[in-house]
Amino acid sequence: MASKTTVLITGASRGLGYGLAEKYLARPNHIVIGAVRSPATANALKGLPTGEGSSLIVVKIDSVSETDPATAIEEIKSQGITALDIVIANAGISQIFPPVHEVEISDLQEHIQVNVFGVILLFKAVRPLLLAAKEPKFVTLGTSAASLSEMATRNFPNSVYGTSKVALNYITLKTHFENPTLTAFPLDPGWVQTEMGNTGARGLGLEKAEVEVDVSVSGMIKVIDASNREETSGKFMFFDGTSKPW
Ligand SMILES: NC(=O)c1ccc[n+]([C@@H]2O[C@H](COP(=O)([O-])OP(=O)(O)OC[C@H]3O[C@@H](n4cnc5c(N)ncnc54)[C@H](OP(=O)(O)O)[C@@H]3O)[C@@H](O)[C@H]2O)c1
Repeated sequence: MASKTTVLITGASRGLGYGLAEKYLARPNHIVIGAVRSPATANALKGLPTGEGSSLIVVKIDSVSETDPATAIEEIKSQGITALDIVIANAGISQIFPPVHEVEISDLQEHIQVNVFGVILLFKAVRPLLLAAKEPKFVTLGTSAASLSEMATRNFPNSVYGTSKVALNYITLKTHFENPTLTAFPLDPGWVQTEMGNTGARGLGLEKAEVEVDVSVSGMIKVIDASNREETSGKFMFFDGTSKPW
């Protein structure tokens, strides 16, 4: 029997997480663990076509829950999963675009809760199974909004989401340094035509974001496929395969 690649993706209900789940599931011999907030409503995910020898496991992970990640890992272990080859921390929110002087601390807390605390809790829960894989990969969803170097040329008001994703970059880079067998990096999907990307675009008077979901997802998977500890881990990657300035 061919060995199977296990991929856990959070926020798999829609947008980029759904697109990633769809493409990994279509490959042969992949077990995709789609983590969603409400498994009962994940019918579209459950109806996706699967490649030969591939299958889907749906688990509940709400990023604001301190217990969901560990419970989800116990659940997949009970279904025979002994290692995770790829974990993609995709779930995230971007709901408000203030300049610093208009930031409400409650909004910042909410974004950090999902975009940072949620990923730390996820990493704590998945780490043992990740480190049990031969060449484990931990990928977080980064953004140009968190690039300090690009701020001069992309100076849109985004101080809530941007702050949370800068912290996420730190956490991701730390996981690279603290886990010598792990390939860990933030991956910027581009400015993509999802609910999140298009809401941001409309806020700037544009019809929609720049990049089609399929193009972004295909690019991200190519980057993840080619990634390794030596050349990719600890870098801020872009979906076109280049690396970005922090
Ligand atoms: N789109 C872009 O242009 C862009 C650019 C750079 C980075 N990103 C990053 O890419 C990732 C995916 O974004 P997207 O464009 O696909 O956004 P999206 O279309 O708004 O989808 C967001 C996903 O995150 C999930 N989510 C939100 N809050 C959650 C919570 N508390 N617990 C669990 N899941 C939660 C949503 O689940 P529900 O269906 O349950 O709400 C949904 O699956 C995010 O981390 C985002 O920051 C996006």
